[in-house]
Amino acid sequence: MLWDRFVRLFHWSLALGIALNYWLLEGGEAPHRWLGYALCALVLVRILWGFVGPDNARFRSFVVGPRRVVASLQDFAADYREHSGHSPLAGWMILLLLALVLSLGVTGWMHGLDAFWGEDWVEDLHEILGNALIAAAAVHVLAVLWIQWRYRLPLLRSMLWRGFD
Ligand code: HEM
Ligand code: HEM
Repeated sequence: MLWDRFVRLFHWSLALGIALNYWLLEGGEAPHRWLGYALCALVLVRILWGFVGPDNARFRSFVVGPRRVVASLQDFAADYREHSGHSPLAGWMILLLLALVLSLGVTGWMHGLDAFWGEDWVEDLHEILGNALIAAAAVHVLAVLWIQWRYRLPLLRSMLWRGFD
């Protein structure tokens, strides 16, 4: 199994929750705030899983330094066929997506604090981070679809219900 049950459940809950919070729920209202915090909690559990979960879910198996990222790009196809987890570039995109969700939780929380009452920049920053998250997720989805098509790898299927060898 490439992705364990928790990673797959985490992935689709996160994607669905973000879409709801961005497009459907009114920014600032209780459902938006609580869903936002729930997504942050989910990300924190994923981070813990990145240290104690199965090999493919562990950060040390997919977060590598810049030199290895560049090397993987030079022979991207071979690299992708050989590894059984996230590719080096995907690893950094994943960290970016997780960090953006947490930073939305922090700026959303700050918005409600007396200390920042009347400060527009907190709200602006929250909105910019929300847009950045959607932009990064769009790049992520396009990359997945492109790699799946270009290298004929069943990435989507492996994140849906089963892995591939
Ligand atoms: C994945 C998580 C989140 C995403 C994608 C997100 C996205 C956004 C976006 C795009 C807006 C601006 C849209 C609008 O004004 O209607 C917004 C507004 C807002 N968000 Fe979030 N948010 C998230 C989490 C949170 C959390 C955890 C809180 C806090 C408790 C929060 C509190 C707010 C508030 C108070 C506003 C309203 C600002 C205003 O008065 O216009 N958000 N959010
Ligand atoms: C807001 C939307 C999305 C976010 C925030 C997001 C985030 C993530 C994250 C954090 C991972 C790493 C999984 C882990 O190890 O925990 C991941 C992997 C993955 N995502 Fe998404 N995702 C989103 C939407 C989508 C969509 C719509 C698709 C379908 C095309 C998709 C397909 C995948 C696939 C196939 C992987 C595994 C990639 C690999 O083999 O390295 N994601 N995504």
